[in-house]
Amino acid sequence: MTDFARTRALFHLPDGVIYLDGNSLGPLPVAAKARVARMIADEWGDLLIRGWNDAGWMEAPRRIGDRIAGLIGAEPGAVVMGDTLSIKVFQALASALELNPRRRIILSDSGNFPSDLYMAEGLIRLLDRGHQLKIVDPEAVEAAIDESIAVLMLTEVDYRTGRLHDMRALTRAAADAGAISVWDLAHSAGALPVDVAEAGADFAIGCTYKYLNGGPGAPAFIYVAPRHAETARPALSGWLGHAAPFAFDLAYSPGRGVERMRVGTPPIIALAALDAALDVWESVDMADVRRQSIALIDLFIREVEAQCPVLTLASPREGARRGSQVTFRHPEGYAIMQALIARGIIGDFRAPDSIRFGVAPLYIGEKDVRDAVGVIADVVNHRGFDRPEYRKKALVT
Ligand SMILES: Cc1ncc(COP(=O)(O)O)c(C=O)c1O
Repeated sequence: MTDFARTRALFHLPDGVIYLDGNSLGPLPVAAKARVARMIADEWGDLLIRGWNDAGWMEAPRRIGDRIAGLIGAEPGAVVMGDTLSIKVFQALASALELNPRRRIILSDSGNFPSDLYMAEGLIRLLDRGHQLKIVDPEAVEAAIDESIAVLMLTEVDYRTGRLHDMRALTRAAADAGAISVWDLAHSAGALPVDVAEAGADFAIGCTYKYLNGGPGAPAFIYVAPRHAETARPALSGWLGHAAPFAFDLAYSPGRGVERMRVGTPPIIALAALDAALDVWESVDMADVRRQSIALIDLFIREVEAQCPVLTLASPREGARRGSQVTFRHPEGYAIMQALIARGIIGDFRAPDSIRFGVAPLYIGEKDVRDAVGVIADVVNHRGFDRPEYRKKALVT
């Protein structure tokens, strides 16, 4: 059994705060502070350029990729780190389209994160080969899969509502129709058990700054199923994805396997923070995380509905159908969230009216949920949000 009291002690959680936004940015793992400081002093400071060889910086994207692989059910050697998630979406989609050259439709849904759809639009424009992005309701995805679909591109957990797709069933339906699947695991990795290999996913991508607690702007990951690893062609053919970067050939030749999805110089300081954050998972069983997350969110929903019925549940009620967040709607959602943050209950707001709370059992327990709902009820029921300063929109919501 995972000892959640122990995992909680591995995070820096500021006094007076109940942190329910780990679905956006995970909290600081205590060990990351020392690890980054040590990396800066001993490696960057003393080794200087020698760090690329002597401190293993050059292999870090693959080595850490293997750590992520263990958390998403990927085969060893099938994941590599680098860049941001939007870039990895572009890479995965570009390679996927090339693997299915006679088809033109990219199927996605209206619950996908806009950046994924924007990257698809940009790629379609760039390719200029008549590809189309077809966006359907999340519930209509399965029925829309047919033999016209080149790529099924979905985010497993809806960033707004937390609704969870059936990755295995949809991947199988896509494969049966001859389509390639690309799964965005931004809200899945570290939130629930994922098994990309077992599901038969062709590509998967995700970020590490949410439930994996890698820090703001932490590098993203990309998974390429081993059956495609030697044939998928990288659209972003940077030198570190080359078979022999230090041969400095004038012509591009892709590296071995997933190595070819590397682009340029890896962010070594950020990877050091992520590496320390991943240590937390060494003693964690994802099945325990899932069980606890469902129980805590069930409690959250029950308490909110009992104490402040004016909030409308936007997430699936059934635990098995959602990720590790819960969302409620209220026309004054933005002001409510600002009032909650002012009282130390940190969640976030997604337009037009959703307040989101991420529940990460590694550092959130039953008392946090009960205390948070007490404050939510107070703010909502007594209109504690009804102040001009809480309606002033900030850059990040
Ligand atoms: C599902 C999903 N996809 C893509 C992105 C974009 O990620 P990035 O800003 O790292 O490119 C996000 C960001 O939150 C996301 O939630």
